[in-house]
Amino acid sequence: MTSREEILHALSSVIDPELRRSIVELDMVRSVEIGENGVIDVTVSLTTPGCPVRGHFQKAVAEAVSGLEGVSHCNVYFDVLSEAQRASLQRKLGRASLPEGALAQVANILCIGSGKGGVGKSTLTANLAAALMVEGKRVGVLDADVWGYSIPRMYGLGSTRPPVSPQRKIIPLGAHGVSVMSIGFFVEEDAAVVWRGPMLHKALTQFLQDVDWGELDYLLIDLPPGTGDVSMTLAQLLPQAQFVIVTTPQPTAQKVARRAAQMAHKVSLEIAGVIENMSSFETPSGERFALFGEGGGRELADELDVPLLGSVPLTLPLREHADEGLPLVLDDPDDPAARAIHHVARGIIALTPLQLPALPLVEAPAGAGAPAGAPAPSPERKPAGMSLPMA
Ligand SMILES: Nc1ncnc2c1ncn2[C@@H]1O[C@H](COP(=O)(O)OP(=O)(O)OP(=O)(O)O)[C@@H](O)[C@H]1O
Ligand SMILES: [Mg+2]
Repeated sequence: MTSREEILHALSSVIDPELRRSIVELDMVRSVEIGENGVIDVTVSLTTPGCPVRGHFQKAVAEAVSGLEGVSHCNVYFDVLSEAQRASLQRKLGRASLPEGALAQVANILCIGSGKGGVGKSTLTANLAAALMVEGKRVGVLDADVWGYSIPRMYGLGSTRPPVSPQRKIIPLGAHGVSVMSIGFFVEEDAAVVWRGPMLHKALTQFLQDVDWGELDYLLIDLPPGTGDVSMTLAQLLPQAQFVIVTTPQPTAQKVARRAAQMAHKVSLEIAGVIENMSSFETPSGERFALFGEGGGRELADELDVPLLGSVPLTLPLREHADEGLPLVLDDPDDPAARAIHHVARGIIALTPLQLPALPLVEAPAGAGAPAGAPAPSPERKPAGMSLPMA
């Protein structure tokens, strides 16, 4: 009868077409069971539940094993890599990673992104952080929009420089109960920031490792528009982060937002959900205006198979408060936009139920699934969303 070793040897011919390595080398073979009458059960761990190459594995694994002596049938089962295993896989693939301990006390990292500019990412990030704080969470905001930083203004923070601790860590500024860090604190007001490539990478890495966030339930990262350098770098540095996609309701915006989703997929980040912004608003007399069309958020969420976390209407106070530096959700929680953002905050809390610290960033011992010392993957910790199945 065929041995486990022979089966693993045969499985090493099964290549993950995206990662271009064998599933054995990638530690994706979760179990091999040799049953009676030559029936073999193989379980393969996928990187994401919606893994587009599942069908390929199904066929390739069955073929590889069925050819072995004494094998009558091969059942192929699938499960999904835990976050710890996925992070370890990403490190194995030589992706960038942060030094051990950086962000270890941050439980959830959410990158707020969009395909294009001006859809309200920063306004939503600032208000969502404040709304999470109202729900009793410890929240930080990192303004990663190195070219158009706007978070300091939205929190009423001028050009104050954050203090540095005796351990030479930068301490975020506190504003309205939220810890805030922005590239805007380190450059002259309105000075053009012309960072590109390696310099940009270095600045972001430094931000992530040199800021003393302390214990946080949520770190919200306000991304620059598009799917460029910053988003890619962050995604690689933070394999445990989840993506929240902001879109406006019209179909063209949705198409652009889909590109952000494809980028998230490319770097294997989970998409936690979609927020539709600038949805229709109602006048006090009940008249509705859908300035930017309707339904785009729902359509995008359905297409990506992730939740629509909320539809935030256009309201004048949301814009005015952003300009004045006071998150609207704190000043007038009954404003329709504020109500919608509070709803999004509660949805996010429901999707990220565990208060566990994020993965310790340590190297996995060769052959081990999860990094040493990592919390055991919890069965409750289901991925909050799915990556985009590529066409
Ligand atoms: N729901 C809304 N109602 C009213 N005004 C809004 C709403 N959402 C955003 N705005 C306003 O729209 C403008 C653009 O928003 P914001 O700066 O948040 O977008 P952004 O996606 O971060 O832009 P960029 O891509 O340039 O970073 C701001 O003036 C903001 O106050
Ligand atoms: Mg912005």
